[in-house]
Amino acid sequence: MFSRRSAFAREPNALARATVHARARGQALIDLTLSNPTAAGLPYERERILRALADARALTHEPAPFGVEAAREAVAVELARDGLVVPADRVVLTASTSEAYAWAFQLLCDPGDAVMVPAPSYPLLEHLATLSGVRLVHYPLVYDGAWHVDAELLRRACSPDARAVVMVSPNNPTGSFTKTGELAAFAALGLPIISDEVFARYPAGDDPTRIRSALDTDRVLVLALSGLSKLAALPQLKLGWMAVGGPDVLVREALARLELIADSYLSVAAPVQHALPELLSATRSTTAALRHRIGENLGVLQRALAGSAVTPLHVEGGWYAVLRLPRTRSEESWVIELVERAGVLVQPGWFFDFPDEPYVVVSLLTPPAELEQGLGHLVQLVGRD
Ligand SMILES: Cc1ncc(COP(=O)(O)O)c(C=O)c1O
Repeated sequence: MFSRRSAFAREPNALARATVHARARGQALIDLTLSNPTAAGLPYERERILRALADARALTHEPAPFGVEAAREAVAVELARDGLVVPADRVVLTASTSEAYAWAFQLLCDPGDAVMVPAPSYPLLEHLATLSGVRLVHYPLVYDGAWHVDAELLRRACSPDARAVVMVSPNNPTGSFTKTGELAAFAALGLPIISDEVFARYPAGDDPTRIRSALDTDRVLVLALSGLSKLAALPQLKLGWMAVGGPDVLVREALARLELIADSYLSVAAPVQHALPELLSATRSTTAALRHRIGENLGVLQRALAGSAVTPLHVEGGWYAVLRLPRTRSEESWVIELVERAGVLVQPGWFFDFPDEPYVVVSLLTPPAELEQGLGHLVQLVGRD
């Protein structure tokens, strides 16, 4: 009676069960998995945000498939802050980046087609693809002190039924940005690029070899995705966008088809669209505080793990850090022991499709004192070199 695509595994995994049991025992856990910026104790200009959402223009329904003009213009102006020239008529508003992915898959793929995605990467890609009837083909990111896309491995991973390649820059959870040479390798596949750039405003340092956006190439169709969720630390307002770039003839065709997809849903609510210019401006202090916290947490990480058997991998940006643990236990037993014996909750590498183990992922959104305490417990459990 039900579709195969909705038949997701629902059994709680061993880590989820251990976490529930620990909490039921009354054990206090230090949560190093925080991904919700609104729960991270960051400063928000609350009154300004609320006032922006009360704009009287939201009382009128304006059925514009790609969003109201002023909001699309606000996105174009925001992209220009990063040096990207995208006319507002190439900006498509969506109700989150997740929806932008779904529309991109519907635009480019028929059921059963494949999309190339990085491994390790954002776990939701699997669900979003499955729900659109699309199969994922993984290309590896390789680590040698920094993360890279290997052009040869990328080419070899490309299957004949691949209709698009996804790049995530910086990637979740590795934090790696796409570099200029890597973008050329993606473009050389000749496939449209779906580029997830939600963390682009969170670099951990400068690097002239990084691209600003996949929109830097005009060789193939590019759908560059971002939104308020990360860029303005407002995931609850459900506003994302795609900026469409590449050869004019492909851009025109993509926009014509996307208009029909968007018109079928008209999913972005009026209040957030009218509020957008003010929201982008009102959250600059919040995201500055967040960047400051991430920087502080990278220092905490170095200090807390120095001389221990836990190795932090190089972080170029984003909201997460990856730690390599000793191979003396499996990843699953490490993360369960961390909950049960150290009272620390982390994400295991297998959530993100790491090619080997054991890795864990910690959030750099965590208040620094908590991160320091949690890492202290982790080091105590794992031991010193
Ligand atoms: C790589 C990546 N893309 C997209 C999103 C989600 O964006 P949105 O809330 O706009 O759907 C996330 C959220 O964690 C993410 O990590």
